[in-house]
Amino acid sequence: MASIPWKGIILAGGSGTRLHPLTLGLSKQLMPVYDKPMLYYPLSVLMLAGIRDVCIISTPRDLPLFQAVLGDGKQWGCRFTFTEQARPEGIAQAFLLTRDFIGDSNTCLILGDNIFFGQGLTEALQRAMGHESGATVFGYHVSDPERYGVMELDGEKRVVSIEEKPVKPKSGYAVTGLYFYDNQVADIAASIRPSARGELEITDVNQAYLQEGRLRAELFGRGIAWLDTGTHDALLAAGSFVQTVEARQALKISCPEEIAWRKGYISDAQLSDLIRPLAKTGYGRYLAALLEKP
Ligand code: DAU
Repeated sequence: MASIPWKGIILAGGSGTRLHPLTLGLSKQLMPVYDKPMLYYPLSVLMLAGIRDVCIISTPRDLPLFQAVLGDGKQWGCRFTFTEQARPEGIAQAFLLTRDFIGDSNTCLILGDNIFFGQGLTEALQRAMGHESGATVFGYHVSDPERYGVMELDGEKRVVSIEEKPVKPKSGYAVTGLYFYDNQVADIAASIRPSARGELEITDVNQAYLQEGRLRAELFGRGIAWLDTGTHDALLAAGSFVQTVEARQALKISCPEEIAWRKGYISDAQLSDLIRPLAKTGYGRYLAALLEKP
């Protein structure tokens, strides 16, 4: 039996008010995180997972910018489509806006402001995609769980409950903005009602899977960095982290051109074409060096 294909959704809308005045004129997810736009990081996660058919959702104001930055995806061996979210009415609305795009596929949703990096990430993505039915979410230990969806775990590290921004968190494990769902997710999203803050909550979708006994959770350990970009300080810290690691290793974090090339989505000749307009930058020289290595 052929396995069910996976498609990706990047949710990159919202008003970005917590980053004003930076985001008065430009989407948060296009802000620089050191040497590349923020959106490159979640997009790289999807590409590492082998997901090349991706829908990017953003506001009517910002969507044309995403189209200009990303193009149709062919340059990276991918296919990008773009969908407007007229108002930020909740993360789970992403599935209602993309029903036609999802079709018969399973879906990975990643929030456009979530940055993941580290040892074992690709394997964790592959494990999640090995499950054709149900849902997989990822837990990450944080110092401030009350700012996130929080998962309560039993002695065997199974999820017992999930709460959105609880006043008294039942654990230190935040639910990250990376979610894998089977094809029922759009029906489930259509069945939930807006929360007290007027949003279709992703936590309610996860609770529905939990109640059906179809929610899996994996915990990311210390080898994985899940970086916050929600405040000016956090944005700067994320950029510094990327700069520090990239300078030390002479390897880039979440470079879509490199991932596309290493995974064979594009040829050497196609990578050369991408390098040409970047030739005067450190970014371009990094890509050029990839082709020169034996
Ligand atoms: O980052 C992980 C957390 O993301 C989870 O732990 C929470 O369970 C989940 O609700 C979410 O919490 P946030 O407080 O970060 O959600 P926020 O409303 O800030 O939205 C996250 C991103 O998604 C943000 O960059 C804006 C974008 N967004 C959000 C909404 C509600 C949209 O594009 N459209 C929307 O309608």
